[in-house]
Amino acid sequence: MRLLVLGGTRFLGRAVAAEAVRRGHDVVCAARGESGAVPEGATLVKVDRGADDGLVALAGERFDAAVDVATISYPWVRRALDALRDQVGHWTFISSISVYSDFSARPTGVGDPVLPPREEQVDSIAASKDDPDAYGSIKVASENAVRAAFGDRALIVRAGLITGPDDLHDRFGYWPARMVRGGRVVVPDADISMQYIDVRDLAAWIVDSGENGTGGTFDAAGPAVPLRGLLRGIADAVGGEVELVPVSPEKLAELKINPWAGPRSLPLWLPESHRWMGGRDMAPALAAGLTPRALVDAVAGALAHERALGLDRERRAGLTAEEEAEILAAL
Ligand SMILES: NC(=O)c1ccc[n+]([C@@H]2O[C@H](COP(=O)([O-])OP(=O)(O)OC[C@H]3O[C@@H](n4cnc5c(N)ncnc54)[C@H](OP(=O)(O)O)[C@@H]3O)[C@@H](O)[C@H]2O)c1
Repeated sequence: MRLLVLGGTRFLGRAVAAEAVRRGHDVVCAARGESGAVPEGATLVKVDRGADDGLVALAGERFDAAVDVATISYPWVRRALDALRDQVGHWTFISSISVYSDFSARPTGVGDPVLPPREEQVDSIAASKDDPDAYGSIKVASENAVRAAFGDRALIVRAGLITGPDDLHDRFGYWPARMVRGGRVVVPDADISMQYIDVRDLAAWIVDSGENGTGGTFDAAGPAVPLRGLLRGIADAVGGEVELVPVSPEKLAELKINPWAGPRSLPLWLPESHRWMGGRDMAPALAAGLTPRALVDAVAGALAHERALGLDRERRAGLTAEEEAEILAAL
């Protein structure tokens, strides 16, 4: 097939392009080419989605399928649909489970209430930190536009936490990187579940779906697993000599340790308000062919990436050695 990836120069978009090339497809990546190189065998067509006529380089091109990774811009999505809808057979939009409006209630499926749509653009996820609903609301508006344009030829992928090679968010990767250092490891004593998906598995399913013309809206990650068991599994997978030291959410809050992500955090630990964020029903995506690899493989990929970046680098998420020592001393 001829596949268009709107993106393709980093992480998920790049993994989709790489998987499609590996299968022998003709792959065009449309991006500025500033975030990185497209995979070997794919073609970069330079576009600027920030400009009204920024997709002109794709005029007249035909594609069997397209994948759009637009993170947090409705205008990018709108412009791409307006410019390309008559040139593309099947359209995949990468959305997020952040579209849901309430993570304190047990989920029932993709029909759960979502945030109000916002036809806006924000410069980056980081820039949206003071407006936590912006990301999900812009994804909702983007999803609606894609469904309206492509109907049952639209695939909406509401991804959960994406992990693996080239992940720059530092969340999942914190744990294998920390476990491999060994010693006493502070872990959240939280009775919650978590879900993740290796970027290579998500990419393979997205390419499958373009090949098969799969339509619909799916939550997309692996099955929910208890966070305690996941962290133990990561420790076992890296084979580090560790003692996991569970610390209660109350104590972590008292010490001003942040949940989920960012500096001074314990990544993947969700606060009570988000208890069900890692408990969505992935059965429909698994039935539609999403195949998560074993934890040991996902950890190996994440750890190789962590080592390539440097285990002692300044991280975007997690605890420094000093912060962890401070917590241990306070117990
Ligand atoms: N990470 C997670 O855990 C997670 C979870 C749920 C959902 N998601 C979703 O998964 C997707 C991740 O996408 P991704 O990994 O491929 O990375 P990304 O960071 O969304 O990639 C952005 C792409 O857009 C291109 N781009 C940036 N500015 C551009 C411009 N002005 N014109 C044209 N292209 C431009 C970039 O290439 P150039 O810079 O080379 O132009 C890059 O290829 C996003 O939709 C995200 O919301 C992620």
